[in-house]
Amino acid sequence: MAPVSTLRWEDQHLHILDQTLLPAQARIIELANREAVWEAIKSLRVRGAPAIGVCAAYGVLVGTRDYRDKDSTEFRKRAEDSITYLATSRPTAVNLFYALDRMRAVLKRLPEETSAADCFAALEAEADSLYAADVAMCRAIGECGAALIREGTGVLTHCNAGGLATTGYGTALAPLYAAHEQGRRFHVYADETRPLLQGARLTAWELHNAGINVTLICDSMAAVLMRDQKIHAVIVGADRIAANGDTANKIGTYGVAVLAQKHAIPFYVAAPSSTFDMDTPRGGLIPIEFRDSDEIRKAGTVQIAPPTVPVYNPAFDVTPSDLIAAFITDKGLLYPPFDTTLRRVFP
Ligand code: MRU
Repeated sequence: MAPVSTLRWEDQHLHILDQTLLPAQARIIELANREAVWEAIKSLRVRGAPAIGVCAAYGVLVGTRDYRDKDSTEFRKRAEDSITYLATSRPTAVNLFYALDRMRAVLKRLPEETSAADCFAALEAEADSLYAADVAMCRAIGECGAALIREGTGVLTHCNAGGLATTGYGTALAPLYAAHEQGRRFHVYADETRPLLQGARLTAWELHNAGINVTLICDSMAAVLMRDQKIHAVIVGADRIAANGDTANKIGTYGVAVLAQKHAIPFYVAAPSSTFDMDTPRGGLIPIEFRDSDEIRKAGTVQIAPPTVPVYNPAFDVTPSDLIAAFITDKGLLYPPFDTTLRRVFP
């Protein structure tokens, strides 16, 4: 069902597809300790809000599997430490905290006398259930959004919110996969997504492999395509959606939303329930990750700007909810007014 295998927990070992090497190499690597899991999330070997959450949940298992035969207090301490540590890897995607909170809640629910081995087994079951829920939510998003993809239309997407960003077949790309399965023909324009090129390296790769018509564009080309009426809908993913509908997603998303409004093109955000953060009232309160300046001063290893020039490099921006036509979710299509709709669906 998933177009790619983003991560796999098998025989108590965690393997991921190293996304920093795509599209040149599709290499599977093992994350052998919790430090490797942290590093893989930080450096975007595994990325995309839902995938980060599931990976971190398995990261707790990686961090605790050698403590299964220890005393249960020691096991619990190690598990708590691992949760706290993995939560420092990236700040914006709420799915990371959602998944880690679920792991913490499992420990809290277990009676004090539970053995370390039984605690581990319960944590493993929770991580597996997060994985399976993500697959199911992607599927539901696809079913709910497929009708928005009309025959012969053009759809713009930004960054990668596909199979690579989840354990299923994506969020923003899910309606496209579903419409494709239903035999509809349409065209996808993928923003390359500077600076780390998730659109070029990942979205173009995964859609092209799936046999979906995709044209890669530089981010600066979207306006002209919209003016020329090549784009009839925009669908993007999300890293965190505040209670009023303001949405954090990959840097550049806000600009695309402004362009879409100017050209009267509907701008949709596709996201699973785990991305809605009802504890954050509005977008201005979402923590935005700032990343290393060399991501902009270099293209890969090639220096493309003076090595010491100051750089501004936020990884995400916030699109205000008034630019969003609807959320495509596993709970259905959600329309404005979002402060009412979201509270009703995610009380
Ligand atoms: O920095 P990244 O590559 O993790 O950013 C990913 C995005 O912004 C995605 O659009 C978002 O996480 C949704 S993925 C289903």
